[in-house]
Amino acid sequence: MSSEAFVTLATNDNYAIGAMVLASSLRKVGTQKHLFILITDNVSDKIREVLNKFFDTIQLVNLLKSPDPKILEALKRPELSVTLTKLYCWKLTQFTKCIFMDADTLVVQNIDELFERQELSAVPDIGWPDCFNSGVFVYQPSEQTFNNLIEMAARDGSFDGGDQGLLNQYFSDWSTKDIDHHLSFIYNMTLASTYSYLPAFKRFGKNVKVIHFLGSLKPWYCSYNASTKKLNTFIGNDHAREFIEKWWQMMVDNVHPVIEQLNIVGSMSSMAISNPNQPSSSITTTTADDDRYQAWQQGQMDYLGADSYDNIQKRLDQSIHGQQ
Ligand code: UDP
Ligand code: GLC
Ligand code: MN
Repeated sequence: MSSEAFVTLATNDNYAIGAMVLASSLRKVGTQKHLFILITDNVSDKIREVLNKFFDTIQLVNLLKSPDPKILEALKRPELSVTLTKLYCWKLTQFTKCIFMDADTLVVQNIDELFERQELSAVPDIGWPDCFNSGVFVYQPSEQTFNNLIEMAARDGSFDGGDQGLLNQYFSDWSTKDIDHHLSFIYNMTLASTYSYLPAFKRFGKNVKVIHFLGSLKPWYCSYNASTKKLNTFIGNDHAREFIEKWWQMMVDNVHPVIEQLNIVGSMSSMAISNPNQPSSSITTTTADDDRYQAWQQGQMDYLGADSYDNIQKRLDQSIHGQQ
């Protein structure tokens, strides 16, 4: 077994779907490294079955919640209080070196060279570049580090309520100590930044290796048409559109066939997926209102009600036949 691994996390079925797309993208660029996913109780059995097809190891861990969810509420991202669960990645001491990647990232070029970097290497955060973004980082598993992090979380909390605040508190000399620990932006290109610095994107964009769909609009909430290979409706920048369409194409080509093969209808209720081979078929989400949207974000699908397969089918028919 390779002693190096790519590690991700999913605490619910939505993020698990993101993780499947991430794993497919890693294999597509030819990595031979171990693919590892941490999951929690909330991930359904059916989705676990699918995850098995994409990851070498699935490990169940306890949900770790932020001691300070109030801060996240202020940031309007209460769902991120569970991201402290990421810390479990330090316990994977069967590996000598790992790269953690958020489940909302997509790899478009091989990044195995990152295993030559040392802990903790990461990309500056676009919101506050003296901090690193914890969506992609190189680290060295260690029980000791895990214990230290937990101790710090209990003692000091996290300034953003999630893992990123805590990790920046712990690796506090990241921005000053050693420039080798700064990774190029191409390893964690957060989409929002392309809005603000388009000329740089035009110059360097072709070098990008990892796209990070940071923020509350995740690709899996967008509505996609598998025939035209375009998003159905999208308000935003052309680059964001292009990358979300890339994510969806990976979904349609590599993930959807596996879900379909396993005939997992229940899990499909979170993302209405029609047969991409049918003409003018549409892949769409069923976020009818904000409440459902929020519930989805928390991984609470209403399998028998609003999100039931029948309702999804109805929505699909409406979008295919143009009825309201
Ligand atoms: N995550 C999860 N369940 C959640 C929220 C987050 O499993 O309900 C994990 C997942 O791996 C995700 C990461 O924590 O990619 C960080 O959250 P997110 O990507 O939503 O944060 P952002 O990058 O948008 O700030
Ligand atoms: C950030 C990171 C994400 C992290 C979250 C909570 O925005 O992108 O990976 O989980 O903050 O700290
Ligand atoms: Mn993320």
